[in-house]
Amino acid sequence: MSEGKVKVGILISGRGSNMESIVRKAKADEIPAEVVVVISNKPEAPGIRKAEAFGIPVVVIDHKKFSSREDFERALVSELKSRGVELVCLAGFMRILSPTFIREFPGRIMNIHPSLLPAFPGLNVHNRVLESGAKFSGCTVHFVTEDVDAGPIIIQAVVPVLDDDTEETLAARVLVEEHKIYPEAIRLFAEGRLEVRGKRVIWKK
Ligand code: GRF
Repeated sequence: MSEGKVKVGILISGRGSNMESIVRKAKADEIPAEVVVVISNKPEAPGIRKAEAFGIPVVVIDHKKFSSREDFERALVSELKSRGVELVCLAGFMRILSPTFIREFPGRIMNIHPSLLPAFPGLNVHNRVLESGAKFSGCTVHFVTEDVDAGPIIIQAVVPVLDDDTEETLAARVLVEEHKIYPEAIRLFAEGRLEVRGKRVIWKK
């Protein structure tokens, strides 16, 4: 294993392209991280097969099989802890996590969001960006706190919004940047360089 590498658990619900970009860079030793588990809350998520193809252990924890959110999250926590996960990365994970889960990994949960937060939190982002008339969009990796899409911002990337953009073309342009900044955020974390001061995240030298 893993000397000096941070143990990462990735939570997905769908396509898993961010998961894939993290796994590729970890496997190529481009970031000091080892992805020890991928967990999907959806049994049919296409990302599951992608993770398996990389030889990453995949676990399905289907939220529909639990009678309460607490039980679902308890199962998540126990799977992550049993594998020694030090950093939890949400990558297209479509369940809101309760404060109880978040307190199990203080300062150790990241999420990627396809806008320049604090603008456009929530769902249906690219459509709302286009309707707003904004000339730039982008993506954000942030620490997860109890306020959805509002935790301290670690890293962002900016893309232009073009006159002939559709939701799909804008999403694709943003996604290219997502695949760069999520591994970069993990690298900064693994190197112990992220210092949270209130809402700000300082990159230590
Ligand atoms: C990404 O756009 C991410 O920003 C958002 O959900 C999408 C997930 O895509 N949270 P993928 O599953 O990583 O391909």
